[in-house]
Amino acid sequence: MGSQRSKTSFLLLVLSLFSLLHKLETKHNTHHSHPHHNHKNSQSSAANPKLNQAYIALQAWKKVIYSDPTNYTSNWVGPSVCRYRGIYCGPAIDDNTTTVVSGIDLNHLDLAGFLPDEIGLLADLALLHINSNRFCGVLPLTLSNLTLLYELDLSNNRFVGPFPSVVLSLPSLKYLDLRYNEFEGPVPSELFNNKSLDAIFVNNNRFTSVIPSNLGMSTASVVVFANNKFGGCLPPSIANFANSIEELLLINTSLTGCLPEEVGYLYKLRVLDVSYNQLVGRIPYSIAGLAHLEQLNFAHNMMSGEVSDGICVLPNLTNFTLSYNFFCEEQGLCGNLTSKGVVFDDRRNCLPGKKLQRSKKVCDVILEHPVECEEFNCDYS
Ligand SMILES: *[C@@H]1O[C@H](CO)[C@@H](O)[C@H](O)[C@H]1NC(C)=O
Ligand SMILES: *[C@@H]1O[C@H](CO)[C@@H](O)[C@H](O)[C@H]1NC(C)=O
Ligand SMILES: *[C@@H]1O[C@H](CO)[C@@H](O)[C@H](O)[C@H]1NC(C)=O
Ligand SMILES: *[C@@H]1O[C@H](CO)[C@@H](O)[C@H](O)[C@H]1NC(C)=O
Ligand SMILES: *[C@@H]1O[C@H](CO)[C@@H](O)[C@H](O)[C@H]1NC(C)=O
Ligand SMILES: *[C@@H]1O[C@H](CO)[C@@H](O)[C@H](O)[C@H]1NC(C)=O
Ligand SMILES: *[C@@H]1O[C@H](CO)[C@@H](O)[C@H](O)[C@H]1NC(C)=O
Ligand SMILES: *[C@@H]1O[C@H](CO)[C@@H](O)[C@H](O)[C@H]1NC(C)=O
Repeated sequence: MGSQRSKTSFLLLVLSLFSLLHKLETKHNTHHSHPHHNHKNSQSSAANPKLNQAYIALQAWKKVIYSDPTNYTSNWVGPSVCRYRGIYCGPAIDDNTTTVVSGIDLNHLDLAGFLPDEIGLLADLALLHINSNRFCGVLPLTLSNLTLLYELDLSNNRFVGPFPSVVLSLPSLKYLDLRYNEFEGPVPSELFNNKSLDAIFVNNNRFTSVIPSNLGMSTASVVVFANNKFGGCLPPSIANFANSIEELLLINTSLTGCLPEEVGYLYKLRVLDVSYNQLVGRIPYSIAGLAHLEQLNFAHNMMSGEVSDGICVLPNLTNFTLSYNFFCEEQGLCGNLTSKGVVFDDRRNCLPGKKLQRSKKVCDVILEHPVECEEFNCDYS
C-alpha cells in the first residue's frame, strides 16, 4: 500500500537523521573523553537535565523488562543514554543546543515486560516504536506527557484493557498503530474527530460494539478496522472522512445491513475492502464515482443485485473481488474484466452462464426475497 510505503521511507529518513546526530554526538563525547564512568557519579554526569530524566525513565523501563532474549538492552548502563541501543537523540525542538531523546526503536526484539510510569519523563520523544514484542498490561497515563509524540507503534504486543484513551490526548500524533493487541470494548468516536491523525490502525484486537456513528471530520488517510467484532452497520457519517481517506479496510468486522450510499462520497479512496462481513443488498451506485479506486473487495458477504458497468470502467481499477456473494448480473465490461487486465474474481455467485457459481436452488431462495435495507435496524445512536 502506497502510503504505508511512503510512511516507512519517511521513518527511515527520520531514523537515519537521528543516528547521524547520534554518531556526531558520540564523536563529540569521545573527543572530550570521559570514557570511564564509575557507577557512583553516573547519574550526576548526565549531559543535561532532560537527558538525566531520560536516564531515570530508561532505567525504570529496563527494570520492568523481564525478558530480553537478544540482550539488546544490556548496554543500557550509565548516564550516556544516547549510546543505548535503540535510543536516538537529537536537538530539542525548542532549543537546538540541548540534546534530547527524540526516538526509541525497539521493534522485533521479543522483549517481555511493561511500560513504566516513568515513560512520561521522555517528554521530547517524537517516535516510539515497540512493535513485535511481548509488552503487556495497560498503557501508563503518564504517556500524555509526550506532547511531541508523532508516531506511536505498539503493534503486535500483548496490551490489554479498554481503548487506551490516553493516546487521544497527544496533540502531535500523526501515526497510531495499535493492531495485533488485546484491547477490547468500544472504540471511542473521539479517535475519528478532527484530530491531526493521518494513519489509524486498530485491526486485530478485540474491539466490540458498532463503529462510532458520530465520526467527526477526520483527517486520516488510512484507517484499518479489520478483524474486530464491531457489528452493526457502516454509519453514513463515514462520509466525514471524504477529504482525506484513501484506504478503508473493514475486513471481518461483523458489519451487517447495506453499504450506505455515502461510501461513494469518499472520493479519494484507492482501496476499499469490506470482505468477510454479513453485508446484504446492492452495491451503492455512488461507488462508480470513485475515480481513484484501485482495489475493491466485496468477497464473502451476502450482497446481491447487479454489478454495474460504471465500476468496471473505472480507469485505475486493478483488482476487483466479488466472490462468495449472490450477485446475479454483470453489466457490460464487468462480464469480461480480465480482458482489460484487471484481476477479477466472481466465483460463487448467481451469475448465469459463468463458471463456478452457486447452485440454482440456493440462488432462488435468496433472489426470491429482495433485500429492504431499511429493515435492518441500523442503530446509529
Ligand atoms: C545474554 O546474556 C546472558 C547472560 O550474560 C547469556 O547467558 C546469554 O547467552 C546472552 N544471550 C545472547 C543472545 O547473547
Ligand atoms: C539553532 O537555532 C538558532 C536560533 O534559532 C539558529 O540561529 C541556528 O542556526 C540554529 N543552529 C543549528 C545548527 O540549527
Ligand atoms: C512531564 O515532562 C516534564 C518535562 O517536560 C517533567 O518535568 C515531568 O516530570 C513529566 N511528568 C510526568 C508525569 O512524567
Ligand atoms: C474540532 O471540532 C470542534 C467541534 O466539533 C471545533 O470546535 C474545533 O475547532 C475543531 N478543531 C479543529 C482543529 O478543526
Ligand atoms: C475474523 O476475526 C475473528 C476474530 O474477531 C477471527 O477469529 C477469525 O479467524 C477472522 N476470520 C477471518 C476469515 O479472517
Ligand atoms: C491512475 O494511476 C496513474 C498511475 O499511478 C495516476 O497517474 C493517475 O493519476 C491515476 N488516476 C486517477 C484518476 O486516480
Ligand atoms: C486481489 O485482491 C484479492 C482480495 O483482496 C487478493 O486476495 C489477491 O491477492 C489480489 N490479487 C492481486 C494480484 O493483487
Ligand atoms: C472478452 O474479451 C476478449 C478481448 O477483448 C475477447 O477476445 C473475448 O471474446 C471476450 N469474451 C467474452 C466472453 O465476451
